[in-house]
Amino acid sequence: MLHLELDGSGARYEQLARALRKAIVSGRLPAGARLPPTRELATQLRLSRNTVLTAYEIICTEQLARTRGGSGTYVNTVSREPPAARGQTQVGPQSRYTERLRRLPAVTMRSASRLRYDLQYGEPYLDAALVTAWRKELSAAAARARLRYPPVQGLRELRAAICSHVGRRRGVICDADDVIVVHGTQQAVSLIARVLVDEGQPVAIEEPHYPLVAHALAAHGARLVPVPTDADGIVCSALPGAPDAIPRFVFVTPSHQFPAAVEMSLERRQALLGYASMHDNWIVEDDYDGEFRYEPGATPALRSLDSDGRVIYVGTFSKALFPALRLGYLIAPPSLRSDLLGAKRLDDLSCGTIEQLAMARFIADGGFDRHLRKAAAELRRRRTALLAGLARHAPALDIVPSRGGMHIVAWLPGWTLERLDDLLRNAAQRGLGLYPIHPHYVRPPSTPGLLLGFAGLSAAQLRAATALLGECLADMKQ
Ligand SMILES: Cc1ncc(COP(=O)(O)O)c(C=O)c1O
Repeated sequence: MLHLELDGSGARYEQLARALRKAIVSGRLPAGARLPPTRELATQLRLSRNTVLTAYEIICTEQLARTRGGSGTYVNTVSREPPAARGQTQVGPQSRYTERLRRLPAVTMRSASRLRYDLQYGEPYLDAALVTAWRKELSAAAARARLRYPPVQGLRELRAAICSHVGRRRGVICDADDVIVVHGTQQAVSLIARVLVDEGQPVAIEEPHYPLVAHALAAHGARLVPVPTDADGIVCSALPGAPDAIPRFVFVTPSHQFPAAVEMSLERRQALLGYASMHDNWIVEDDYDGEFRYEPGATPALRSLDSDGRVIYVGTFSKALFPALRLGYLIAPPSLRSDLLGAKRLDDLSCGTIEQLAMARFIADGGFDRHLRKAAAELRRRRTALLAGLARHAPALDIVPSRGGMHIVAWLPGWTLERLDDLLRNAAQRGLGLYPIHPHYVRPPSTPGLLLGFAGLSAAQLRAATALLGECLADMKQ
C-alpha cells in the first residue's frame, strides 16, 4: 500500500497532489509505477473520489504522471539527476518558481538526426536561397543600424511591415502601434502570463497541446486546465463555467491545432469569442504556422473575427523562416498594451536592432513573400508525396483531414500504445524516425497516433520513407 501523508495545508486535493509529487520527485514512486486506483486511494485516505481525481489531474498536468488508455495512471520519467552532476552547487529550490521549474519534465530540443528518414514534426522548410538572402539582409542591416537601445515595442518599420503581412495573409487588421515585437512565441507567452495570471489561477489549454507553452505557464504558477479538442477544434462546451474556475485566458491554435492538426470551425470560433465576452477573460491565439495553407478557402485568423477586443494574437517567424531567428510578435488589445510593454521592458529591454531591421527590409522588399511562395509550393509537393505514400504503403492508417501546416496526424485504430512502442523501435532500427502524439496529452487517448512531419524531407525521400513504414508495419503483422 502506498503511504502518503497529507500536510493539512490548503484544499485536500492540493495536499494530496503535493504528497504524490513528493513521492514521485523523491523516487519513492519510480518511473513506470502505477498509481493506486482512485477509488482505492480515496477509501484508504478517507477522501472523496473527486478529490483524488483532481489531485491525479494536477500531477498529470504537471507531467509527473500520465493516464494510459484507460488502464490507469502511471508515473513519468522525471529528471532526478543530482544538481551537482550538472555542474551546479547542490541547493534546494530557491523560490516557488524554481520549485515548479524543477518539477517539469526535461524537454530536449531536437538536434540533427542520424536517421535515414526522419519524419520529425516542427521542423521548418529551409533552403540555400533563404540562407543567402538572409545573410545579405543581415549585413546590410548591420551597416545601417543605430547602435543605441532600440524601442521596447520594436522598430516602427518592422511593426509596420508585420501589420501589412498579417493583414494580407491572415486577415488581421491592425496598425503598427498594436504590434509588440518579441523573441518568439515563448517570450510572448511568458509576458502574457505575467500580465494576466497570478499564481494558482486557472488557464485553459487545448488537449493535446504544445508542451513548451504548457511548461511556461506551469512554471509561472498557473493552474492548467486541459480542455478537449475534436474535429472542430477546442470543445467550447467543455470550458469551465463555475465562477471560481473561469480561466484567465484560453490558449488556442485555431488554424492548425497543435499537434492534432485540425482547423477550428467557424461555429467554435464564434462560441469561443462569446465565452470570452461573457466571462470577461481573454483568448490567446497561437498562429504558429498560419502562413502555410494548401487548399483554397482556408480560414483567416481568429483575431479577424474579434469585435470585442478579447484576442491576443501571437505570430512567429520560427516556421515561416527559421527558429534560430527568435523573432515573433504580439498583437494585443489596446487595453493590455502598456502592461505588456512594461513586462517586455523589464524582461530584456527589446529585441536586437540588426535582426529587426533585416526582417523589416526582408518583408518590405518582397523577399519574405517570395520565400513563402516557394516554401508553400515545395511543402505542398512534399505533403502530396507523403499522403500518396501513406495511401499506398500504410492504407490502414486513419489520416486526419487538414489543410495546412508542416505535419499531418495519422491514427492507428485498434492498436495499443505497447504495439506502437514496438513499431517506433522497429522503425528507428531501420533508420526511420516516427513520433507518437500521446506525449502531447495530459490524458492520452486509447488509440495511438503518429505526428508525421513533412517539411524536412524531399518528395523522393518521403516516398522512400513511406515505403519503409509499410515494411515496418508488415513486420508487425508477422
Ligand atoms: C504550437 C507551437 N507554437 C509556437 C511554436 C514556435 O515557438 P517559437 O516562436 O517560440 O519558436 C511552436 C514550435 O514548434 C509550436 O509548435
